[in-house]
Amino acid sequence: MNILGIDTSCDDTSAAIVADGMRVLANVINSQVKLHYPYGGVVPELASREHIRNIVPVVDAALSQASIEMKDIDAIAVTVGPGLAGALLVGLYYAKALSAANGIPLIAVNHLEGHILSILLEDDHPEFPFVALTVSGGHTSLYHVKALGDYTLMGQTLDDAAGEAFDKIAKVLGLGYPGGAIIEKTARSGQKDIIRFPRAYLSSGSFDFSFSGLKTSVSQFINKWNQDEDMQKKISIADIAASFQEAVFDVLVDKLVDARKQTGVKSMVIAGGVACNNLLRQRLTQRAEKGIKVFYPRPSYCTDNGAMIALAGYYRFMNNEYADMSIDARSRFPITDLKPLAS
Ligand code: KG4
Ligand code: ZN
Repeated sequence: MNILGIDTSCDDTSAAIVADGMRVLANVINSQVKLHYPYGGVVPELASREHIRNIVPVVDAALSQASIEMKDIDAIAVTVGPGLAGALLVGLYYAKALSAANGIPLIAVNHLEGHILSILLEDDHPEFPFVALTVSGGHTSLYHVKALGDYTLMGQTLDDAAGEAFDKIAKVLGLGYPGGAIIEKTARSGQKDIIRFPRAYLSSGSFDFSFSGLKTSVSQFINKWNQDEDMQKKISIADIAASFQEAVFDVLVDKLVDARKQTGVKSMVIAGGVACNNLLRQRLTQRAEKGIKVFYPRPSYCTDNGAMIALAGYYRFMNNEYADMSIDARSRFPITDLKPLAS
């Protein structure tokens, strides 16, 4: 059973072939980082145009890497949302065209479900139920994952995503874009306790997040630091990066650990671009109590990729949940709205 998975929700054009819901035969990702670099963030119009240029070669490359042809594909799974509307439309309409021209069933996939299930692409993965934190440039959400298709949203960011905060702070520090990996690298030589930036825990027991206050506080600190040579002698860029990173991870790890305790599950999963961060992985592993396991997908399954979409599509395909040609892209698509996708 070969599923072609396509994702064009943001700035990566990706296509993958996954066999039997577990074996990744190909996972091709065309990153647009260089294109958006001068703007310090994703420019939606440019992203859509770049997806149009790349979608055909990316799907062809996936087929060729997997050494199969379109006639060997059993279903085409495509992200319909959430994401940038113009970007989503490119993948969705190419998937529709392939489906119609080749008589292959079309499966609509929620991008967030892809991130939640991405851990199942790894041999070492948890049994249901587990708690999952999806943390990227577009989302920061905490789920109680009870079974396939049965997800309770426990909390989410009320403003910026954690990855967005990394990107913004890297930009203010003049480190470039995207910020996550650069901040991680810069922070390695810094002292994490030198500046105590605010941690937004919100109300007691809340699993929601907020990073806009932290973003503002760090930006204001950097503005002051830029104008004060004495401060620059005492505090380095690495110190600022390390202290910022610590403030983000304290909250992420605390809330994920608390969510695990509240649900009583035995496994914690982190996924999404920010889950590439080695310090976050370490912190979470250190905090896991005896008998509790921590799982994270490899980096190429953390950042946006077609393999997680093919995998999520596989389960919907097995459940006979096909999409018809009238399906539209949804820039907002809460995971609780998954059911209406079934025809
Ligand atoms: O999942 P992803 O590729 O795209 C979205 O769906 O947003 O995530 C990209 C985000 C960016 O904000 C990037 O700065 C962040 O993930 N990121 C990281 C790291 N690598 C990527 N954040 C922290 N540490 C990293 N090593
Ligand atoms: Zn994503």
